Amino acid sequence: MACLARRLAAVTLLFAALLVPTGCGDSGGGSASGSDAGTDSGGSTDAGTSGSASAASGGGSESGGATTGDGVQCSSQQYWTMGDFESPLMHPGGACLTCHNMAEPGEDIIGRLAIAGTVFPTLHEPDDCNGSSSEAGPITVEITTADNAVLSLPVNAAGNFLYDLEESPAITFPITAKVRRGDQENVMNTPQATGDCNSCHTEQGANGAPGRILAP
Ligand code: HEC
Ligand code: HEC
Repeated sequence: MACLARRLAAVTLLFAALLVPTGCGDSGGGSASGSDAGTDSGGSTDAGTSGSASAASGGGSESGGATTGDGVQCSSQQYWTMGDFESPLMHPGGACLTCHNMAEPGEDIIGRLAIAGTVFPTLHEPDDCNGSSSEAGPITVEITTADNAVLSLPVNAAGNFLYDLEESPAITFPITAKVRRGDQENVMNTPQATGDCNSCHTEQGANGAPGRILAP
């Protein structure tokens, strides 16, 4: 009885089931303890215990948070959920210009952005995951055009940046780019013929890009 009481107490205290039979000299191991508890009113307690034990181990992998198998993570743990609702915060990580140029003519977005993309804190982040915030200082994307005009594009709350031809004059390609925060910068050495930055800076990287555009 004392042994059973100790078992139940131990179970109630959420000790690992394996420790219980050891204390009682019971060679039946964890399964004996489990069936014991299952046949009396301790059953639900036991079920609760194992339930919370697996919840706890589930929590372990959850604490990896947004991490999935391939080192892909959504650092911000915040996602764009509003579909094609028009906004400069829309679809972080998506290939902005590619999608815009497939829009219905009435949507007025075809050819409107000369440059757009997203800055992230790590190299492999999924589409629709909000990118770098400006908490550690404002981030800007600095573009140098083919005729040496320098544009400074602010990075918004979703990590997105853009150059809107509705508000600004046309630019010449190819362009080079760097990302600035304070006196730190990440530089792209290769000049690019398109301003659709995320078409190469995908989750895994395309056309030789290492992955996302990184915040310094
Ligand atoms: C999956 C397709 C898709 C992707 C990807 C996408 N957009 Fe859009 N975007 C649209 C559509 C469609 C509209 C027009 C919506 C409308 O008119 O109702 C739009 C409109 C906009 C507008 C116009 C807002 C206004 O005030 O008129 C901006 C700015 C914009 N997008 C920025 C971006 C940026 C920056 C990215 C990339 C980080 C991006 N979009 C990625 C589909 C997309
Ligand atoms: C056609 C593909 C392509 C496009 C479009 C492109 N990049 Fe890149 N980017 C690359 C490649 C390849 C590298 C690695 C080699 C290098 O640094 O030139 C790179 C590297 C970078 C880097 C340094 C490494 C990193 O991941 O941060 C930055 C910053 C960057 N690009 C920003 C941009 C910006 C901003 C745009 C849009 C104006 C852009 N890129 C458009 C291919 C592209």
